[in-house]
Amino acid sequence: MNEIITIDGPAGSGKSTVSRMLARCIHYSYLDTGAMYRAVALVAKRRGMDLHNGEALRKMCRSLDLWFDRGEDPPKLMLGEEDISGLIRSPELDMLSSSVSAVREVREAMSDLQRRMSKDGEFVAEGRDMGSVVFFRARWKFYLTASAEARVERRYRERLERGETVTREGVAEDLKRRDDQDRMRALSPLKPAEDAVIIDSTALSAEEVVEQMLNHIRERSNGSGISEYLNDKCLRGLK
Ligand code: DC
Repeated sequence: MNEIITIDGPAGSGKSTVSRMLARCIHYSYLDTGAMYRAVALVAKRRGMDLHNGEALRKMCRSLDLWFDRGEDPPKLMLGEEDISGLIRSPELDMLSSSVSAVREVREAMSDLQRRMSKDGEFVAEGRDMGSVVFFRARWKFYLTASAEARVERRYRERLERGETVTREGVAEDLKRRDDQDRMRALSPLKPAEDAVIIDSTALSAEEVVEQMLNHIRERSNGSGISEYLNDKCLRGLK
């Protein structure tokens, strides 16, 4: 059995929290594809690579020993034996990952790897092009949006919690620059798949978003493997 639920959307839309919650609730594995582009950016930075050299980036991507350690929740992102989960979360890598993700050779290598990683089993796949490109055949597709103000506020709080010194204005600027780059790029730009269910999370808690997703799946699934989890216990477990 191989089933994929895709969740796409811009930075700060609440994708990661919701994807992890949904995966935990229905006992699916969580695939964080943004983390994979961040890993590529980290390695490119460490090696001082030229981001215009697609061929060199292709070689690097194809030789990366990138894998998720699923013994933890959320899974740890590993580069060989090195846990890079913390290292990839920085303002510098926010922007650098967006830049490397616009390179054709990088997208090809990462899309292949994402498909290989999830070819067996059941996954909640989170990213920018999950429903529109990489898993366009997925049965369940969601696209999360939120107002610019709500997205800035979420990112601002996240960064404060990480102990960074930030201002709302700085966060707003970074977010806009990255969003513009992700939406405007030629390859797999951020946009909802035609058949995705769009959920505006501006005024919703993460639990409420997951509840909407589960309701959608419940209403449309007859005999799908997911339905056995779609009960009140699953939702109570979220809270
Ligand atoms: O979700 P995130 O913020 O961790 O993603 C980091 C960058 O990676 C994002 O700015 C764009 C890119 N990305 C992508 O192009 N395609 C994906 N499926 C996931 C992320």
